[in-house]
Amino acid sequence: MGDEEIKAVTAVMRSGHLFRYGSETDPRFLHQAATLEKEFASYCGTQFALATSSGTASLIAALSALGLRRGDEVIVPAYTFLACYSTCLFLGLVPVLAEIDESLTLDPDDIERRITPRTRAIMPVHMLGNPCDMDRIMAVARRHNLLVLEDCCQAAGASYHGKKVGTIGDIGVFSLNVFKTINSGDGGLVITSSQAMYETAFGIHDHGHKPLRFGVEVGVRSVLGLNFRIHEITAAVGLAQLRKLDRIVATLREKRSRLKSLLSGATGFKFRTLNDPEGDCATLCTIIFDTVAQAARVSKALGSKTVDQSGWHVYANMEHVMRHLKELGQPYTRGSYPRTDDILSRAMNISIGVVDGGLGAGWGININSTDAEIEAAGDQFIAACAQPRPQLV
Ligand SMILES: Cc1ncc(COP(=O)(O)O)c(C=O)c1O
Repeated sequence: MGDEEIKAVTAVMRSGHLFRYGSETDPRFLHQAATLEKEFASYCGTQFALATSSGTASLIAALSALGLRRGDEVIVPAYTFLACYSTCLFLGLVPVLAEIDESLTLDPDDIERRITPRTRAIMPVHMLGNPCDMDRIMAVARRHNLLVLEDCCQAAGASYHGKKVGTIGDIGVFSLNVFKTINSGDGGLVITSSQAMYETAFGIHDHGHKPLRFGVEVGVRSVLGLNFRIHEITAAVGLAQLRKLDRIVATLREKRSRLKSLLSGATGFKFRTLNDPEGDCATLCTIIFDTVAQAARVSKALGSKTVDQSGWHVYANMEHVMRHLKELGQPYTRGSYPRTDDILSRAMNISIGVVDGGLGAGWGININSTDAEIEAAGDQFIAACAQPRPQLV
């Protein structure tokens, strides 16, 4: 955040127009929400973008836009933010959890094993800024005639084989909350190249109205909607941040690559798989230790935690969500997704740009870290890995 965001917010306050809709002929109305939508669609290389109040609101709008019906099953990763499950549950859909692989994103082989006659969609989540293996996921989707909703909430600025995330499946969602690559405190976006999906998502987010309404349009509303509208101030901050996104990602990539080369001086771990090393947005650096004991020892020495011990994103830590999975007859207790449990118990997230204890990323560097600070972090990590193992008595 800098002067750009402060100026943008001040301009909206001075304009006197805080609501996303206003008169086209009023020169004081700054239409920040509409501009954010236009620039984000263009940034992603897609046709439509809808700004919303949050990533969660975007998920509700996008799941509805896919035309899913009560009882339909959606395959979601066993490692993700709880909104991926709770939004399905709110819409009467059944979230079917599938294992992750060493990219910490959906394992395409396991998706195939979870398909039933009721499966209608797959929700790949580009966790921790790392794009999923979209070629294989899209191949599974095509083989089984499934819709694909990309959850890009943690991956604004990431791409997969040259395409921005969110443009590979049918629809994509983003979050602008404070832990994301760019943020406006809270906020969200939906993108799609389908006019029909865009119109439904728009209606869901604004009481059934058609896109970019002026006033109340009686007689043309076709879906039952709610209010997930973005505010002009939020949109102004999001827009100023969007204009910095490429610079932010380039800086993160440079800092992470420097840190990774220093960490490589230690042994006993590997870096997580990057499905497109050129496309990952480098907000975090995830390492997977060879053993649970070493993961616990090193993360503790650094004042951090292994991912399975972090508060969020781990299915077994979501008691209120898992109660619903139990009612739906879905596996929900710790141990139900053994590959995911194993990987998360050996994984540690190192912050690069996103510093979030809830992601198990309470230790690392940040976007402003100097070379000297990155080197100090590298030394600290190597020293933590070299600690003697406790003696068995
Ligand atoms: C993967 C994922 N999906 C959805 C969301 C929901 O976004 P929001 O917090 O903006 O509602 C988040 C936010 O943390 C997320 O990380």
